[in-house]
Amino acid sequence: MKVIGSVPEGLEKCLAKEIVDLGGFNIDTYKRSVSFECDYATFYRIHFFSRVAFRFYREIARFPCHDRSSLYEGVRESFNWLQWLPSEKTFNIKVTGKTSSLSHSHFTALEIKNSITDLQRSVWNKRSNISLDNPDLVIHLHLNNDLAVLSLQSSVNSLHKRGYRPAVGNAPLKENLASGLLKITEWNGTKPLIDLMCGSGTFLIEAINQSLKVPLKSQKRYLFENWFDFKKDIFLDERNKATKKVVTFANLPKVIGCEINKDVCHQAKVNFSMAGLENYIELLNDDFTKIQFKSSEGLILCNPPYGKKLGDENELIDLYMRMGEFLKKKFSGWEFWLLSGNRRLTKHLKMKSSLKIPVSNGGIDCRWIKYLIR
Ligand SMILES: C[S@@+](CC[C@H](N)C(=O)[O-])C[C@H]1O[C@@H](n2cnc3c(N)ncnc32)[C@H](O)[C@@H]1O
Repeated sequence: MKVIGSVPEGLEKCLAKEIVDLGGFNIDTYKRSVSFECDYATFYRIHFFSRVAFRFYREIARFPCHDRSSLYEGVRESFNWLQWLPSEKTFNIKVTGKTSSLSHSHFTALEIKNSITDLQRSVWNKRSNISLDNPDLVIHLHLNNDLAVLSLQSSVNSLHKRGYRPAVGNAPLKENLASGLLKITEWNGTKPLIDLMCGSGTFLIEAINQSLKVPLKSQKRYLFENWFDFKKDIFLDERNKATKKVVTFANLPKVIGCEINKDVCHQAKVNFSMAGLENYIELLNDDFTKIQFKSSEGLILCNPPYGKKLGDENELIDLYMRMGEFLKKKFSGWEFWLLSGNRRLTKHLKMKSSLKIPVSNGGIDCRWIKYLIR
């Protein structure tokens, strides 16, 4: 089948690599998405092991579409709705993109709904209902350059919601963004890991889980279980392989999180425990300069406040200066990765970067910056 995965901007190559590793092929990367082909087993497997995708969409049709009537006809003719959508099943429609005469997504979605339900009524004299909260099928239409691409969304909830984070601190990172950033650092669970300002603990939970290949278990059901060609035996086989995998935490190196805010630190503690990792992460409720750990090498991460969501820029200059001084004094030989959303602040570290990767953090243009601490 042909599939499209959506991903945070800047992590397209990370998703492409994940898909190759999990068995996908004919990969193409675009802005915020990756397309590929795969068999059923791989399709089900990626839902347990892709850590950077938001969602997956299975392409079911594409047709030229420039106005209302070509949309109506194209939807009706391009897919076997009568087989895939019996009248007792509910559905929902999402639209992205536009053409010159189809520029209102709500209107476009209404036209798609009419096309499908008119067809159902003409044959069965009854139609499927729309369900916004709990649909059986989510139909996605993307319009671009007078081309319509129809696909089926594979899960109701985004896969970045892992279920371990009921509590979120200030300005938390999305789990899949944290995971992709960690993949770029190539941390593989052998060297010590420190998050200087861990907030709700996302980096550390993702780091451990992905280094040990812990499967995602948060989705109770997937929309693909309602699809006409759902292969239950293959799905159960993949799910069993994922959930029965033995994960050993015993060989993890030292993992430390530091968070100055008492309430946020408590939230991190709850999240570590929800993720079953409370015994593997040392949590310090203090200023980052109080971290004491000696090793000649390791990885330090930091997603500091950068004056857009949290903290005033002038007050933060001192924080960045202290961070630079502390790292150079105490962690020579280590690698440091900073998620920077503000160049004016980053320069106060007074450190020379060796790599800068553009990424988007919830719409904020950021850089994932690597430093070798000397
Ligand atoms: C952008 S948030 C980090 C979010 C985190 N990555 C997550 O996913 O939840 C920055 C955090 O740094 C903490 N912080 C600010 N100054 C600090 C300091 N001097 N020492 C330790 N933590 C600090 C803040 O309380 C805030 O929770």
